[in-house]
Amino acid sequence: MTSLKLDEPGKFSPVVDDGPLRLVVAGAGPMGKRWIDAIARNREVDLVGVADLVPEVAERALTELGVEARVGSDATELATELGAHAIVDATVPTAHHAVTWKALRAHIPVLGEKPAAATAAQALSLAATARDSGTLFVVSQSRRYNRNVHALRGTARAVGEVGIISVQFFRAPHFGGFRESMSHPLLLDMAIHPFDTARYLLDAEPVSVVCEEFNPSWSWYAGDASVVATFTMSNGARLAYTASWCSPGLETSWNGEWRLSGQRGTTLWDGEGAPRIQYDDGPEQVAEVPDVPGESIHGSLIEFVRTLRTGKATRGEIGENIQSLLMVEAAVRASETGERVIIADLLNEALADALHDEADASTRQVLENWSRNGLLARGKD
Ligand SMILES: NC(=O)c1ccc[n+]([C@@H]2O[C@H](COP(=O)([O-])OP(=O)(O)OC[C@H]3O[C@@H](n4cnc5c(N)ncnc54)[C@H](O)[C@@H]3O)[C@@H](O)[C@H]2O)c1
Repeated sequence: MTSLKLDEPGKFSPVVDDGPLRLVVAGAGPMGKRWIDAIARNREVDLVGVADLVPEVAERALTELGVEARVGSDATELATELGAHAIVDATVPTAHHAVTWKALRAHIPVLGEKPAAATAAQALSLAATARDSGTLFVVSQSRRYNRNVHALRGTARAVGEVGIISVQFFRAPHFGGFRESMSHPLLLDMAIHPFDTARYLLDAEPVSVVCEEFNPSWSWYAGDASVVATFTMSNGARLAYTASWCSPGLETSWNGEWRLSGQRGTTLWDGEGAPRIQYDDGPEQVAEVPDVPGESIHGSLIEFVRTLRTGKATRGEIGENIQSLLMVEAAVRASETGERVIIADLLNEALADALHDEADASTRQVLENWSRNGLLARGKD
């Protein structure tokens, strides 16, 4: 498999503290509130602070949830003052680079909401900063922490070599707000979830993509809210993503509906229940679903804490996660140009952009090193 050199796990020192780890949440919007709640329910961690650009929003969130913590407007300053072990970054995507960069430079580990940053170039800057500061930066891809997805990973292997992995996502949400006015709403706000899950299921990386975005006449979105994209993956499989956010009636689950067609059989997942599998014309079987330590963000919080305590590499570390963000950017580029986009080309472009924009000398040095030596390497398998 072709993987990123930056995919080699970063080296960082484990936290030596037997008590609950002290956390600060940055951003107290809907997702920040989910994190505050998840932290309050986990005995391994203590919420010590919540920072929001508008501190009253943080106050209101804490009151609403019945949780106590200090409030501020700058996550790193608050975390430093409170001796926090880590920050959970649930701010808006455009703030992820500034918030996470400042924390990493202060040697405070970060568990960030998806996307890692607003652009792949900014995500590379954060990867280089994490590497240079020896500080952990993990992106929480909550959809990976799902017992049925774990089961599907098992059935995906059982069907042998996968030829096509198809994801169908059809819903009709009226969000109001920014999603209805932004460009590429479905690709930029939603598609990273199935793209990341597909990488995880196949243990393969994206090579190229062709993509078409469009808006049906009845769409209530300003940007194109329907997508047909086909990725070629490093194991030769094709990922066919057909999706719409303006598709009323018989909606799929929020996880979409999945079909993996392999050499020995097929496995299906409706996005909610246990996956099904059939080998050739044998009987259809329902997959056994394993227990997982925690679902969704609860699972990613548990894994982040374990990583902090052990110093051992984890899923979702920034170097690994960048590939999911690149899939989104590549699909947008392919849709805008009408041409096939090669992921490695986009990565090199992002690296050039990151170098051009980098203001910090030490981060720049890591980026220069990556630029000199090439980012893509023949990987583990
Ligand atoms: N994993 C999922 O399923 C899922 C679902 C929804 C949202 N998200 C992600 O969570 C993040 C937040 O989403 P949301 O819907 O809560 O956004 P939101 O815009 O509703 O809230 C974000 C909050 O961050 C605050 N903020 C902005 N810049 C800040 C800064 N520099 N420092 C501190 N606070 C700052 C804003 O004041 C706001 O209160 C986004 O990255 C989004 O993509 C993930």
